[in-house]
Amino acid sequence: MVRIKSIVGNNFSDKTCILRLDLNIPLSEDGEILDDTRILESIPTIDYLINQSAKVIIISHIGRPNGKFNKNYSFKPLIEDISKRINREIFFIEHQNQSKISSIVDSQPSGTLFLLDNIRFNEGEENSNPDFIDFLSSFSDVFINDGFGTIHRSHSSITGITNKLPSYGGILLEKEIINITECISTKSSNSTAILGGSKISDKIPIIENLSNNFEKVIITGGMIRPFLIASDKLKQKNISEIKEEIFYAEKILQKHPQIYIPEQLVCSENINKEPIILHSSQINDIDLIFDIGPNSIDDIGKMILESDKIIWNGPPGVYENENFSNGTKKLVNFIVNSKSKLKVAGGGSTVASINHYKASDYFSHISTGGGAFLRLLEGKFLEGIEVLKDE
Ligand code: 3PG
Repeated sequence: MVRIKSIVGNNFSDKTCILRLDLNIPLSEDGEILDDTRILESIPTIDYLINQSAKVIIISHIGRPNGKFNKNYSFKPLIEDISKRINREIFFIEHQNQSKISSIVDSQPSGTLFLLDNIRFNEGEENSNPDFIDFLSSFSDVFINDGFGTIHRSHSSITGITNKLPSYGGILLEKEIINITECISTKSSNSTAILGGSKISDKIPIIENLSNNFEKVIITGGMIRPFLIASDKLKQKNISEIKEEIFYAEKILQKHPQIYIPEQLVCSENINKEPIILHSSQINDIDLIFDIGPNSIDDIGKMILESDKIIWNGPPGVYENENFSNGTKKLVNFIVNSKSKLKVAGGGSTVASINHYKASDYFSHISTGGGAFLRLLEGKFLEGIEVLKDE
């Protein structure tokens, strides 16, 4: 297992620490915080540092403002809400100018928490500009990364800065790495990986990696159709739009024929029409698959209930629509009731469905990462982890 230099056990009293978080949180059209998990998960590291009387300057991005100031992506209107959630006062810094930042930070006592406005307002963030890295590292003594969701990016505030300052991983980062790698890197003959999404090419490295240590791999979501066609269980006349997906599905099935593809599905011509349960052999070109049927979800349930480890990314249906929610609801319920001690899930819609069914307490780990979680499942090099390795 990869070990990173951890903040735990180290003393940061009277130091100024740059703390990289992933506060890229979903907002409503009115700017309300829709999901505060990433804020709440950063509290242990913030508390650890502030309780040691460090000055902590939080840096994060929100959205993709492309290197320019854009008030729609500013943290300014969110300060009060973030501050309430972490139960601490935050000193907001909007100036992206070194001498101003330094004088603001110097003017405040030890134990102050600052938040710099969106780090992606600076062109030098995403292209790892050396001048911007110098600027970022100039007003602090130590760099700490606790933004797991961004760990697959090679940006100034993630990798570049580690060449300039003593660098550590925060409590959330360590927790994510330990829990996810523990689940995916141990071999078990009674284990289930459930993988959804629609682009098979993106999932090939994950399926390849997880097939080494997971006995059962279950396909859900948009990947079901090309997998059924590739295994000759669904006859589709016009395949032009998913030709490439079918090609990838065939390749994976040649290597991993044990992959489970649900054959009873809940279909409709469109999501607003009545659902109809069909066997794959009855599905026509116009029938779109929106959920897994009751028989198939029960088959999946049998595998899950007996598994001793489970990893899940990608809901089987559409939990927001009553007609197509049964598969997701039952899957969550099976995982909740499984004897498995390792129950790990990640990805935006997966986590949203777990929260919808109020089941998060039953999982051993729910990742705050989207793309970062998937990259870790590939078992490959992750830029932001590599630079924090404890050799
Ligand atoms: C995420 O939400 O997955 C992270 O914050 C990374 O965001 P990005 O894809 O814009 O780099």
